[in-house]
Amino acid sequence: MNRKLRVAIIGCGRISVAYEDAFKRLSSISDIVFAVDIEEEKAKEFAKKFDCEYSTDYKDIFSKNIDVVHLCLPHYLHAPVAIDCLDHGINVLTEKPMALSLQEADMMIEASKRNNKLLGCIFQTRYNESVHILKKMVVDGEFGKIKSIRSLLTWSRDKEYYSSSNWKGTWDKEGGGVLIDQAIHSLDRVLYLAGDDVEWVEANIANRVHPFVEVEDVAEATIKFKNGIIYNLYATDSFFGDDTPINIDFCCEKGMFGLHQDVGYSLVGSDYKEYREIEEREVVGKGYWGTTHVMQLHEFYNAVLNGTPILVDMYQGRKTLEVVKAIYKSAMEKRKIYLPFVDSKIQKGTKL
Ligand SMILES: NC(=O)c1ccc[n+]([C@@H]2O[C@H](COP(=O)([O-])OP(=O)(O)OC[C@H]3O[C@@H](n4cnc5c(N)ncnc54)[C@H](O)[C@@H]3O)[C@@H](O)[C@H]2O)c1
Repeated sequence: MNRKLRVAIIGCGRISVAYEDAFKRLSSISDIVFAVDIEEEKAKEFAKKFDCEYSTDYKDIFSKNIDVVHLCLPHYLHAPVAIDCLDHGINVLTEKPMALSLQEADMMIEASKRNNKLLGCIFQTRYNESVHILKKMVVDGEFGKIKSIRSLLTWSRDKEYYSSSNWKGTWDKEGGGVLIDQAIHSLDRVLYLAGDDVEWVEANIANRVHPFVEVEDVAEATIKFKNGIIYNLYATDSFFGDDTPINIDFCCEKGMFGLHQDVGYSLVGSDYKEYREIEEREVVGKGYWGTTHVMQLHEFYNAVLNGTPILVDMYQGRKTLEVVKAIYKSAMEKRKIYLPFVDSKIQKGTKL
């Protein structure tokens, strides 16, 4: 197929700069033809950069022959807007998390299947060169069996961050705090690199220093994989600064490997190596968003044009959400949660 894809974006907020950059880089295979934001100024501003149409109502894209829509919306809107777009024959690539509950994720999957349209979920850090190299080394058996894993995220989200948003910090619109919004990327990379299914989760969450929001500012979990690996996760947004590197470490039979933010490392015997992006791309937006949105978008466009596979398909998006939701359920019910389990949205006003 030689034609260019017609692309739209819904939600022109903070993350949209990463899309602006990707759209410019992918202009040989796609045209951004429509920008939507409920705040007209934001839609207009984004549209101006591409000389495209804009609107405050996402349903206006339905008459524009759109091939792919990007959802950069508050979390509670991912499921309803994705389903509506899929039902109008549009392929959907949504930002993380896929949805607020597994039921919503399942409805999205059904919508994708009944319309035969592609649904993907952004986890751009999986596309880092370091992750790609380490995954290959794991599959090739260079580390032997993985024994245990830890991930540590210590960032900061202050009062200003929360007061500048009308959805963050709420159970019904964001679906949680540091876990579902920030640490979900670490968890996603661990699930991908470990390559096994989770058997159970036992966890705690709390809100210790953010009295102005209802969601958690700290989460810790023990996650047991079916093959016996134990994964310890710790995440808080009550640290200093929001750019402290994330650490992820895998301890294995023959050595160690992991990630220090986006830089990978391996240590087998006395052989220590580091892995970085091959292509230097300018960081747009926050440094910890990385520079790989463009790679995930490119892969998705190729899939729509040529039927090639995507790494983070709707089932992968659901899988990561499932572990996030198991952590919340375990913390709230104070018990070990075996997967699969019956999930639900967390209600506004839920006390920790
Ligand atoms: N992948 C990453 O690294 C990364 C980083 C930041 C944010 N995100 C994700 O991106 C998404 C958006 O986050 P953000 O930080 O940009 O939030 P934001 O609040 O800055 O942007 C959301 C935008 O959606 C608009 N909006 C709200 N309701 C709408 C509606 N009904 N129709 C059209 N527009 C509407 C808002 O006006 C706002 O401009 C979330 O899913 C978030 O988790 C991902």
